[in-house]
Amino acid sequence: MLRSPLSWMGGKYRLRKDLIKLIPNNHTCYAEVFGGASWVLFGKEKSAVEVYNDINRDLVNFFRILKYHPDELKNWIEKDVVSREIFNEYKDIPGKYLTDIQRAVRFYYLNKYSFASKGDCFGYGTSKRPHQGIFDTSLIDKVRDRLSNCYIENISFDILIDKYDNERTFFYCDPPYYETAQYKDKFYKEDHLKLVSLLKNIKGQFMVTINDHPEVREWYKEFYIKEVDVGYSVCRTKKGRRRFGELIITNYDSEDILQKKVNV
Ligand SMILES: C[S@@+](CC[C@H](N)C(=O)[O-])C[C@H]1O[C@@H](n2cnc3c(N)ncnc32)[C@H](O)[C@@H]1O
Repeated sequence: MLRSPLSWMGGKYRLRKDLIKLIPNNHTCYAEVFGGASWVLFGKEKSAVEVYNDINRDLVNFFRILKYHPDELKNWIEKDVVSREIFNEYKDIPGKYLTDIQRAVRFYYLNKYSFASKGDCFGYGTSKRPHQGIFDTSLIDKVRDRLSNCYIENISFDILIDKYDNERTFFYCDPPYYETAQYKDKFYKEDHLKLVSLLKNIKGQFMVTINDHPEVREWYKEFYIKEVDVGYSVCRTKKGRRRFGELIITNYDSEDILQKKVNV
């Protein structure tokens, strides 16, 4: 199964195998509305047409550069050295002085070497060896091939859903968690409510993954809701980390899809 080249807060690395089994095969367009590191898109079989979207400009710039300038990206990252000083220099350079390729390199570097991949603080530890700084650049080529039939969009979720909705579209929506996530682009209760109201009226199919919260259950009560127990929350100390529940919400019976796939 192909890996994402990035780590990302809320990334569906652990859950993706289970999620992929619940995606029906009857769509021609697969749209990942809140792309992030896009673990599900990279892990699943290719659909005829695919869409990666995120509101974060740096993320989108990274995937665009990876798709259209993979060799330049590889040339830069192959030579990188892991160092707190370089990390801080990268962090402090204003983006307006960099080309798009340089911005992508910086983004990748900060993502790889920061604590919890948040890009703001050099990652180190007393029980973890330093990163060896040897990038698997073959992954860049594989991801580039994977993106060949994929539109890369940088628009808000509501515009994306409106543009791509039709009977043969499958939307995977992994929005920031309700009342817990801290992304650069804030996501408020009104945004969650806008997402729910849009999803109630689409022609296509959808799957939403979100933290288990009584209000979330109420918003989506007319749909199919499954509970899952996943990983740990991001927190520096072991004490502060806790397991949390997540919901998988669909507008089709995902158990039925699972059974059909098992019986094939
Ligand atoms: C939980 S993360 C997605 C993680 C992803 N599924 C993965 O496997 O890495 C949510 C993403 O939503 C993006 N986001 C926040 N507000 C948005 C908006 N209004 N429209 C589209 N994306 C948005 C954030 O930038 C973040 O990358």
